[in-house]
Amino acid sequence: METNKARILCVDDEPVNIKLLEAILMAHGHEVIGAASGKEALEWLHALPIDLVLLDVMMPGINGFEVCRRIKGDEGLRDIPVVMITALSAKKDRIQGIEAGADDYLAKPFDQTEVLARVRMLLKVKKLKDRLNDSYTTILGMTSFARQLVQTFEPLEFDLQDKIDRMVGQIIRRQDEILGRPKTMLVHAANGSGKSGWHRYEVVSGTLTRTPLALEISPDLSEVREEIFFCNQPELAEMEGEHRLCLEQLRAFDFPISNLVCYLGRSICVVAVNYGREVTRYDASAIESLVTQTLFMKSIADQISETEDAFAYTVHALARASEANDEDTGNHILRVGEYCALIAGKLGLSDKFVSIIRLQALMHDVGKIHIHPDILKKPGKLTGEEFAQIRQHPLYGAKILGAHPRLTMAAEIALSHHERWDGGGYPNRLAGEQIPTAGRIMNLADQYDALRNARCYKPPFDHATTCGIIIEGDGRTMPSHFDPQVLAVFKKNVSEFEAIYEKLKG
Ligand SMILES: [Fe+2]
Ligand SMILES: [Fe+2]
Repeated sequence: METNKARILCVDDEPVNIKLLEAILMAHGHEVIGAASGKEALEWLHALPIDLVLLDVMMPGINGFEVCRRIKGDEGLRDIPVVMITALSAKKDRIQGIEAGADDYLAKPFDQTEVLARVRMLLKVKKLKDRLNDSYTTILGMTSFARQLVQTFEPLEFDLQDKIDRMVGQIIRRQDEILGRPKTMLVHAANGSGKSGWHRYEVVSGTLTRTPLALEISPDLSEVREEIFFCNQPELAEMEGEHRLCLEQLRAFDFPISNLVCYLGRSICVVAVNYGREVTRYDASAIESLVTQTLFMKSIADQISETEDAFAYTVHALARASEANDEDTGNHILRVGEYCALIAGKLGLSDKFVSIIRLQALMHDVGKIHIHPDILKKPGKLTGEEFAQIRQHPLYGAKILGAHPRLTMAAEIALSHHERWDGGGYPNRLAGEQIPTAGRIMNLADQYDALRNARCYKPPFDHATTCGIIIEGDGRTMPSHFDPQVLAVFKKNVSEFEAIYEKLKG
């Protein structure tokens, strides 16, 4: 309740006194609730938000001092001002009232001017206390919002809409009685491809709702300077320029506006409308702070995602460079990345592993940069010396990729993708689980794709023939070469291998 329209609880066992106070207070716009006993008064206090209590001392049952003590001893009620109604002469009562925690006294018989003056002063104090409590709650909320934002920050999965929803949830009014919050919020966020629409937020039956809104506050948000402003009713009529435009657009949307806080920015606009009390610089700062936190996270997420894109681009460039001197096998490197991701996923490895192997498998043959193209492209049989050269490429690859933590899997794959489960591979003749998982996955992926394509020593095979060779063996390629679990995944999902090949051939 605002100062000019407070809900006042008048407690007196004599109805005439309540009637008298009612006449004085209601004439000034206050809502008066009468209670004939201490018990009834306490019931009202727990049932409704009360702004002020005028409390008679002598009542049957629980007397005024006890009611006052209970109010002041209750965490949820103690900020409600209590005025004890005492007889002018009752000094003892006033002392006892002080001890019970009363905020002020009124003497019977009532003096109308005095009653109104006390009420006005105490309601003002109550309003300031409410604001202080509200600000404290807002600050607590903002702190926990910031903490949550940081704790759940996944830059590569940053979802601006989700963060805006959460931000609005922090600001908007959840219950009708929280006056220091806006009833409605309108938010515009530009997505990567330009403008997204406006959304209107409201709390309906305790749930935050978001609905798209046809609203064009500014013809071009890229022209907008970052700024925050707030306005209450009398100033709304005098708004100028950009602010006026903003207000007109809001009015066109057809809901009454009694006050607003508006954050206008290039990538985000937030308009908080209809707080239950006058808006102040504090409300503007609270919104600015939350928007700034959200935009800060967005900016970090954008930068990290840009760096990640650059990393992926470099990996592709290096992979393309490595096959420049190799046989023309189309999209071999892209396909093996997809086969590896497929196998890793089916093996139940983590999403992170799957995404790393999809990218880093591309560099499995990077060591071939060191092998002479005449050997790589030689039609027919290789000499022993040439074959020995080829068998060096895993070692060269591991050396090129080095020991950077971001390239650990790539280096593992480069070094171990020609090792065989039965120990017959190269360069280190590792066997079984001595071979890193990624290397075992890559070995089968590479084999499938090599068999599907023409190589200088063989024609291309169709899908069925290739599956036959891998699953049954042909003397040169044998099922014992592969990790049995990887082979089992292959057997179960052969059609998906074919689909990847068909999609990325060329
Ligand atoms: Fe290789
Ligand atoms: Fe390969």
